[in-house]
Amino acid sequence: MTRKWWHDKVAYQIYPKSFYDSNGDGIGDLPGIISKLDYLQDLGVDIIWLSPCYQSPLADQGYDISDYYAIDPRFGTMEDMDRLIAEAKKRDMYILMDLVVNHCSDEHEWFQKACEDPDGKYGNFFYLRDKKEGELPTNWRSYFGGSAWEDLPGTDKQYLHVFHKKQPDLNWENPELREEVYKNINWWLDKGLGGFRIDAIMNIKKAIPFHNYEPDREDGLSSLQNMLHEATGIGEFLGELRDRTFQKYDAFSVGEVFDEKPEEIPDFIGENGYFSSMFDFNETICGQSPKGWYDAKPVTPDDYKRCCFEAQERIGTIGFLSNIIENHDEPRGVSRYIPDGECCPESKKMLAALNFMLRGLPFIYQGQELGMENTTFASIDEVDDISTLEEYRNALEAGLSPAEALRAVSRFSRDNARTPMQWSDEINAGFTTGTPWLKVNANYTSINAAAQMDDPDSVRSFYKKLIALRKDPIYRETVVYGSLEPVWEDRHNLMAYYRKGDKMLLVIGNYQKEEQEIGLPSACKKILLNNYADVAMNGSVIKLHGYQLLILEM
Ligand code: GLC
Ligand code: CA
Repeated sequence: MTRKWWHDKVAYQIYPKSFYDSNGDGIGDLPGIISKLDYLQDLGVDIIWLSPCYQSPLADQGYDISDYYAIDPRFGTMEDMDRLIAEAKKRDMYILMDLVVNHCSDEHEWFQKACEDPDGKYGNFFYLRDKKEGELPTNWRSYFGGSAWEDLPGTDKQYLHVFHKKQPDLNWENPELREEVYKNINWWLDKGLGGFRIDAIMNIKKAIPFHNYEPDREDGLSSLQNMLHEATGIGEFLGELRDRTFQKYDAFSVGEVFDEKPEEIPDFIGENGYFSSMFDFNETICGQSPKGWYDAKPVTPDDYKRCCFEAQERIGTIGFLSNIIENHDEPRGVSRYIPDGECCPESKKMLAALNFMLRGLPFIYQGQELGMENTTFASIDEVDDISTLEEYRNALEAGLSPAEALRAVSRFSRDNARTPMQWSDEINAGFTTGTPWLKVNANYTSINAAAQMDDPDSVRSFYKKLIALRKDPIYRETVVYGSLEPVWEDRHNLMAYYRKGDKMLLVIGNYQKEEQEIGLPSACKKILLNNYADVAMNGSVIKLHGYQLLILEM
């Protein structure tokens, strides 16, 4: 495999709105990010992915872009962006922007022009269909609920939006649209970006001709998955995208890829794949129900292990997955993958290491390094996220009481990850001097960066050790390129695997609060990492403490 500059890197996702507010308006911003670059450098981060900060009405928090060439004034200016790229470069860090090109905003000039002249050039930038009384063009349900079709203002047509109605889908079948997208990507890469995280990309190829699918809920609509399963030929778009943009710059690209077909993995992330990497969502989709969040099953430790190993096996050494335990679309990983009531520094560190040591690129979501947890909502009025609001309505329709529905959606709400970053125990967790746009998690007085910076036993310090191990010249080759082999796969509440390269490492996590005994298969040369101060080792037998995590050199 050709070695690439990003293979041994550690990435960190910033959700700009909630990271750090420099001017007291309650909204995080680019100058705020710049002021925290030293914090990230100290942690050991190399690549920073920014969730969108382009000009946007923020209907979906910036994933609805009204100008791809402008920074939204709430986040700062283009000068701030240039300064961020330059300041990152000084620290050997790379900035990734979020590439949101399945759709734009209904406030984008293209859409406005399509409304004025639906039969003209810009009408063909979107998917438009003639409006028929009492009949929709297709029965597709948008991801955020309701029909995926909406009236095109001022016309007798309707447009397709697979997400919110303020996010009209762009017509990738139109070469003129694709040219506009490539032009914009290259404009950004010319500025010195390291690359892009690519949003919702599997949606750009629709099954043509459009038609109805079997309804799967009482609303008579059908999940978009049915249509996407039928679509073929996305590779032509993605190959062209790579050739015309990323490849020319040796840029890093990571795709938000779902439901790829197994035989297509080499095309996606193999040598000269469409993307440098793609996210592993196997754990995040575990337990999901077609009925909605209210019907989802919790993820047990054994489920978590199985999902990680499945994903690892599927990819093997074809390429590199990007491993996450959470992002801005998910609840906090520690609240989800650690059984209820058992979140503690030890269990958080265990989860961190089990995920971090997998083969692939580790991505840390802001606050994950502090062990930030899910928040609580006193009422649905405290929720901002459009998908949580939709899932709440859905739960009520299914017959849940308001209290049950709130409890059900609280577990999965995207707002869990979007509460302000907890910098200190000062007012508003040190995030802003004004009123934060979203309520701060009440536990900030105990979970915050200031308290963890100088504490050698903090969750953050443990992340630093994990990052340092990945970069240690003695172990880097094995941690980055080594193969992964599960051990004791059938043992309940135990997740363990080898990483084998020029060294042999054994990662062991006792995924329960009770002790558990294991017999090592061979002699241990060295303990590289331990989330406890001691290890109860008797010959080759180790009695693991609850949630003990060990990384051993064998
Ligand atoms: C992706 C983003 C999510 C957004 C959606 C529509 O899934 O991660 O936040 O709502 O795309 O752009
Ligand atoms: Ca601000």
